[in-house]
Amino acid sequence: MRGVDFGTYHHTTPAESRQIREWAERAFCRLLRPLYPSRAPLKILDAGCGLGFLIYVTAKRFPEASITGVDVFRRGSMRELSIRQAVKNMKSLGIDTRTSFLKRDLTKPIKADAQFDLAVSNLVFHNLGKKRFKAYGNIFDALKPKGHFVIGNLFQQDKADMNYFRKRSTLIDELRESELGSNYKIRVFRKR
Ligand SMILES: C[S@@+](CC[C@H](N)C(=O)[O-])C[C@H]1O[C@@H](n2cnc3c(N)ncnc32)[C@H](O)[C@@H]1O
Repeated sequence: MRGVDFGTYHHTTPAESRQIREWAERAFCRLLRPLYPSRAPLKILDAGCGLGFLIYVTAKRFPEASITGVDVFRRGSMRELSIRQAVKNMKSLGIDTRTSFLKRDLTKPIKADAQFDLAVSNLVFHNLGKKRFKAYGNIFDALKPKGHFVIGNLFQQDKADMNYFRKRSTLIDELRESELGSNYKIRVFRKR
């Protein structure tokens, strides 16, 4: 993928980050496959999209989907992070006509034009402390009823997270074996 840079995660080398993404791409695809037919014209939200890794994954899996990436785009969690590089990645991947970005803080209401069928997220909430519950709430608010939230994260306080998710959704699938250690899980929730 020439000209595409999805960035380097904290505490990893660029090669390790690439390896994590290869694993995560396979894992997300496995969990997404049973949820919707590939030609479904979905509206997808990538919460904490960074440089667009999951935008790329979902755009490939759902060629008729339009995808919105939301991020604060403040350097910190990834040194390469910028909305310019994210847009450049979408152009290099040839998916810029069905992708867009919103510079927003997920702990504030998302205020997108339409509600989403599916929200995805990878490695965003473990550093937000209790504010993550506000962010989860805003994501559920942006989803249509029965919409799915597929979240990969380091669940360090698993009970508290699951208590929250149970209030708004049903856990329908989960993947635990990971390159990122035992705290990292990808879970699929269906909004009530
Ligand atoms: C480790 S990066 C992961 C990026 C991308 N999901 C991936 O897997 O490559 C975490 C991302 O979450 C974003 N983020 C963290 N807190 C956020 C918040 N409150 N609102 C929006 N984005 C946030 C960061 O800016 C960063 O891009």
